Amino acid sequence: MTMYEQLGGTAAVAALLDGLYARALDDPLLKPFLENLDIERLKQQQFAFLSQAMGGPDRYTGPSLKAAHARLRVENRHFDAFVGHVRVILKQLGATDNLSAEILLRVTSVRAEIVNTATVNA
Ligand code: HEM
Repeated sequence: MTMYEQLGGTAAVAALLDGLYARALDDPLLKPFLENLDIERLKQQQFAFLSQAMGGPDRYTGPSLKAAHARLRVENRHFDAFVGHVRVILKQLGATDNLSAEILLRVTSVRAEIVNTATVNA
């Protein structure tokens, strides 16, 4: 069974994205990135990407993750915050620890394509 099926299929992945955006928009670290964006479009693209990454039927056909985030200055701390939200939501959705670990491994494997800015300590 794919990770997508284990999580609960389309409805569960849609709930994951809804939860992720609700939390990200409420997170002072991530909110600035998401202002003035078409969130529905972004969710749709991320839905396709994450579905595909979890073995689901959708196909992501957008720009490479590196290109998609190139105009942003994403640091490790932003990426970690994003992953932290995914972790919480997976738990809320009732994913087992094993399934969560497997999905989080997939999600964190794209770090190098998204993080493009070093954190400078004040
Ligand atoms: C595993 C982590 C992530 C994945 C899989 C991911 C995936 C994506 C995808 C598929 C798009 C759409 C590209 C397009 O259609 O143009 C996108 C855009 C975007 N992502 Fe991410 N992302 C991740 C992490 C992050 C993080 C950590 C941030 C911010 C701190 C972020 C901020 C954005 C923003 C602002 C856009 C819109 C860019 C634009 O429209 O110019 N993403 N992301």
